Amino acid sequence: MQRIPVRAASAAYEVIVEADCLEKAAEYLGPVVKNRRLFVVADERVWHAQGDRLRKGLADLPFELITAELGEQRKRLSTVEAMAERLHQAGADRSAVLAAFGGGVAGDMVGFLGAAYMRGVDVIQIPTTLLSQVDSAVGGKTGVNLAGGKNLFGAFLQPKLALIDTHALDTLPEREIRAGLYEVIKYGVIWSPELFDLLENKRDAVLAREAELIERIVAESVRIKAEVVAEDEREGGLRRILNYGHTFGHALEAETRYELLLHGEAVGWGMIAAGRLGEALGTISHEERLRIERVILAYGPIPSLEGVDAARTAPRVMGDKKTIGGKTNFILPERIGQVKVVSDVAMDAVEAAMQAALDAVAASS
Ligand code: GLY
Repeated sequence: MQRIPVRAASAAYEVIVEADCLEKAAEYLGPVVKNRRLFVVADERVWHAQGDRLRKGLADLPFELITAELGEQRKRLSTVEAMAERLHQAGADRSAVLAAFGGGVAGDMVGFLGAAYMRGVDVIQIPTTLLSQVDSAVGGKTGVNLAGGKNLFGAFLQPKLALIDTHALDTLPEREIRAGLYEVIKYGVIWSPELFDLLENKRDAVLAREAELIERIVAESVRIKAEVVAEDEREGGLRRILNYGHTFGHALEAETRYELLLHGEAVGWGMIAAGRLGEALGTISHEERLRIERVILAYGPIPSLEGVDAARTAPRVMGDKKTIGGKTNFILPERIGQVKVVSDVAMDAVEAAMQAALDAVAASS
């Protein structure tokens, strides 16, 4: 079991990483909930698959259950409003505690519900996918999609606790594990050569989901995120490095109409393109870039982007939502464990990097 403190500017809390901690949920949630009303707000499918474990783990801790059909298409303000109505009908007041149970969509939406319901109630995150465990459940970003893009409407709300049961990953489809692992590779490249080495050397054991190894990489990812968020909660500076792979990745998700790629897979593609751009601009050596690319591909297969046009994608990349004052920030690798923010990048260079990434993956498959 690992207890990881997060000391963000607005709030401090703990992240528990432990196989089977769902079965002991009352022990961890009890001191946070105290004698308030607890509402478990769950993704319907996740509740169906894993709800019994949480129900047993909550034992004598009373809770009320709200389930909803979730998913990227339903990650809209109207769904949050419907959840808020259900809370209100159930008589939830300002002292209510919400526990978000599910993947990244559930965590982001219930987090946002918590930020807005009665102008703010306490939220506990219980993420059940690798991607949400290593990224979205920690750090306080919450929100929903707008027609124009992902996560464009939201708020910062740090949870009171995040409870991460790595055993919940045992039943996750292989593709979702791989997608989450691209985010873990991200942490290796932006921050930790040790984590990168581990992923490079233990690929088979990681993909076989060896329990100790999975707990280690989840805990290490959370530790890195906690350090970054402690320094920069609102993404004014350092936190931008968490967007490594995301500038290209978001554009590819939009270009493929959010139908082809899981978010983590888009980040995998985005890291390949960022590496190519970094090498072209001289931020990283050829050898180091190749090493990163090999590890990304080793955790594949990454879905093919056959038919995606680099010239059409490049303007989307330049219009990424993280654009500030007309400048697109690219997080480019310098070496494994270190990245830098580069903002004056020409469209041609972006297109060439995208094309190089497309060619490289096509040649490798
Ligand atoms: N997923 C990036 C962040 O939390 O800042």
